[in-house]
Formats: sequence, structure tokens, C-alpha cells
Amino acid sequence: MAVPLHLLASLLVFLLMVDAGRLIPCLHIVCLMESSIVLFGPPGAGKGTQAGRIVEATGKPQVSTGDMLRAAVAAGTELGRIAKGHMESGGLVPDDVIIGLIKERVKARDAENGLLFDGFPRTVAQAEALAEIAPVSLVIAIEVEDESIVGRITGRFTCGGCGSVYHDQFRPCEVEGQCDECGGSDFKRRADDSEDTVRARLSAYHEQTSPLALWYEQRGLLHRIDGNASIDEVGVRISKILPE
Ligand code: AP5
Ligand code: MG
Repeated sequence: MAVPLHLLASLLVFLLMVDAGRLIPCLHIVCLMESSIVLFGPPGAGKGTQAGRIVEATGKPQVSTGDMLRAAVAAGTELGRIAKGHMESGGLVPDDVIIGLIKERVKARDAENGLLFDGFPRTVAQAEALAEIAPVSLVIAIEVEDESIVGRITGRFTCGGCGSVYHDQFRPCEVEGQCDECGGSDFKRRADDSEDTVRARLSAYHEQTSPLALWYEQRGLLHRIDGNASIDEVGVRISKILPE
């Protein structure tokens, strides 16, 4: 009995995959994952603020390395212990730690539709690692001058219940002391949001992270968005470049 050629071909591919051992799980993740989006920009540019709208429009879950690290610090894990000093001084957490974190995160089932990376990658080494573990189709660079950033960050507060981001002046709660989204009243200010630490974070951004814009531009993935506008207007600008 003749065996159809396509069945033989499928069997051969299957055997090769089994044989390829450790290589295949990585290829498997890259092949099966839909493409991801990167939200790029200096501290306080509005990445977290705009992330919610992009998640709603694309269905891609937000992955904020800053939020993951803060959760680890609060839980007192080994990761938190390593990250704490770097975060408090406004420096970057070492690449191998961050890359390990993302390698684990992309294995989750909800990563299949692609992810919205917020604040990752932040170095060329992180971007090179990401290129090997998840396909990226769009990098949204929100551009804001340093002078505006200090005011944005020192006025920021966040709902402890649902994580919604507010600002004393630019995004106050509709009812003072009550979160618009969940009605909670437990608000927090970040330990690294002092003026001195913001300046250190800006230095880290200019020295280690901003060169990545060129790296992504050379690959045809970078879209610059002028972030010097109201929150709603920046949201409209971003919505125009999102994939259908
Ligand atoms: P992370 O938490 O990522 O902080 P960040 O990049 O410094 O950015 P922010 O979260 O401060 O700002 P945002 O752009 O999200 O602005 P937001 O929307 O909140 O990282 C923290 C630390 O973790 C790092 O310093 C580092 O140590 C470590 N880390 C994290 N990822 C790492 C990585 N990949 N590698 C190594 N280390 C890593 O907005 C800010 C404020 O402005 C809010 O109050 C908001 O209401 C307001 N606002 C927003 N948009 C507007 C607007 N258009 N007009 C007026 N106000 C606005
Ligand atoms: Mg943020």
C-alpha cells in the first residue's frame, strides 16, 4: 500500500523535532507565538498609562518588567533581593536577571497571542535576547523631554487595588481619594519616584537604553510618537499605528 508523500514528510519533520532535543522548545515558542509589541521610552513617558489602552485594542497582555520586579521586592524573593538596590539607586537590573525573567514569562499560555512589553528591552543585549525568544512587529517609542519628566514622575500615584496610574495635576481621580476604576482608596507612591532618583533613572536611560531606538530603527520596527500632549491625544496617536 502506497503511503502519501505528505504523511511521510510530516513523519520525517516530527522525528527531526524529537531528535533536535533542547533546540526545539525555543524554536517552538518563536514559531507558535504571534508577534509582540514593545513600549519604549524614558521613565515617566507614559508607557504604563498607555499600556491599558493598547491591551484593550490588541488583546496582548501587558508585561511590565518594572511591575514584576516591584512585586518580587514586596514579596521578599531572591529576585527582589537582587533587584532592590539597583532600583533604589535608579540603575538597571543586570541583563541576565531580566532575560531569565522574560524567558519564563513567554512560556505562559497567554503569551501565544503575543505580549505587550512595557519597559523591556532596555539594553541592546536584552533586545538581542528577545529577538531569539519572541517575534516583535512594532516598537512604540513615546518621546518626552527630560524637563517634563521630573514633574510627571514626582506627581504620580497608583491605586494599590487595581494598579491604575494617576497624577496629582494631569490625571487626578474624578472623586478625590477614590479610584475611578475599582473604587479603592489605598493609593501608593513608588520608592524610586523622588527627584534625585528620577535624575539617575534618566541618566541610565540616556546611556544604556536610548541607543536601542537606533537598533530597532535599523530593523524597520520603530515608530516614534510625540508624547508631549494630553494622555488622550497620545492614546489617539498610538491607536493609529496599532496593527488591525
Ligand atoms: P519601570 O517601572 O519600568 O519604570 P520606568 O521605565 O522608569 O518608567 P515609569 O514606570 O516610571 O514611567 P511610565 O513610562 O510607565 O510612565 P507612567 O505611565 O507611569 O522600572 C523601574 C525600575 O526597574 C528601573 O529603574 C530599573 O531599575 C528596573 N527595571 C525595569 N525594567 C528593567 C529592564 N528591562 N532592565 C533593567 N532594569 C529594569 O506615567 C508617569 C506619570 O505621568 C503618571 O502620573 C501619569 O499619570 C502621567 N502621565 C502619563 N502620560 C501623561 C501625559 N501625556 N501628560 C501628562 N501626564 C502624563
Ligand atoms: Mg511604568
